[in-house]
Amino acid sequence: RERKMYMACRNDIHRHDAPFIAVYKSLIPAEEELEKQRQLMAQLENLVAKEWPHAKLYLYGSCANSFGFPKSDIDVCLAIDDDDINKSDMLLKLADILESDNLQNVQALTRARVPIVKLMDPVTGISCDICINNVLAVVNTKLLRDYSRIDVRLRQLAFTVKHWAKSRRVNETYQGTLSSYAYVLMCIHFLQLRRPPILPCLQEMKPTYSVRVDNIRCSYFDDVDRLENFGSSNRETIAELVWGFFNYWAYAHDYANTVVSVRTGSILGKREKDWTRRVGNDRHLICIEDPFETSHDLGRVVDKFSIRVLREEFERAAEIMHQDRNPCAKLFEPY
Ligand code: CTP
Ligand code: MG
Repeated sequence: RERKMYMACRNDIHRHDAPFIAVYKSLIPAEEELEKQRQLMAQLENLVAKEWPHAKLYLYGSCANSFGFPKSDIDVCLAIDDDDINKSDMLLKLADILESDNLQNVQALTRARVPIVKLMDPVTGISCDICINNVLAVVNTKLLRDYSRIDVRLRQLAFTVKHWAKSRRVNETYQGTLSSYAYVLMCIHFLQLRRPPILPCLQEMKPTYSVRVDNIRCSYFDDVDRLENFGSSNRETIAELVWGFFNYWAYAHDYANTVVSVRTGSILGKREKDWTRRVGNDRHLICIEDPFETSHDLGRVVDKFSIRVLREEFERAAEIMHQDRNPCAKLFEPY
């Protein structure tokens, strides 16, 4: 009888697709906003080229990975192939240059974990952080964007999950909860494991793109235009996937023993990664493997308090998807 009820619930869930699609659409940034970002980027490229002709500027993070919300700040990486640079000196120099070009609130944070220069452009109103040689972030941004082009359901799911995480305040790494980057990887992994799969595992396919960054070989199949119909034999819709995602993280994931891995498109054992015990501040209470920096667990920020918060929020979300008449409203209720 329970199985029948479960199936009835699942079959009925499609009636919630429309509200989820509406939320998704409301969260996509407008074209004019993207145009402003390009405008600021062009200005920055100009300034940087005058001082460092061999440097390149790349956008990374949510402004470039296709999972950005409206009105977000932009993240820029200045890449320069020179072993002799001193990052702090360069950031201070950069801050000078930006200030003389009338950019505002310019601030060099040379002692941060990732040293950056912050600025605000008074013309477009966009705030921006510039870091130096964080090229892995540029490459993982491309990986996320390439995945998003394969099946629209990834963007729909990830926007929903990010919106939920921000509303419920579980997207705050300094409070021990997960980064947006981690949530998007969880969504990709979830769609790789649907049967039939909605996303492939690009890193297990014959590479068409390959770069070496900080001694890490990053390669994968990036000719994603050829994968347009990859997920079409799976007919699951957004409400069903949101339901499945929260159900997985609330009740099905084996937190004690497993690691989710987008790189392999599978679930790995904590043992094989040697992530079974606390080392320093890394507790490995929820394990999400970085696709390129494979020794990096994106769950390492989570501690014994925040893991409870996270799991309670996953359960709350799963229950809402399971029972609520209007899950879309309740799911995003501010914490
Ligand atoms: N990043 C990373 N390793 C992390 C966290 C982030 O490499 N542990 C990089 C990724 O390239 C990511 C970018 O930094 O795309 C920005 O991370 P984050 O702020 O978590 O994601 P956004 O997509 O910018 O999300 P938001 O809209 O919340 O700003
Ligand atoms: Mg960001």
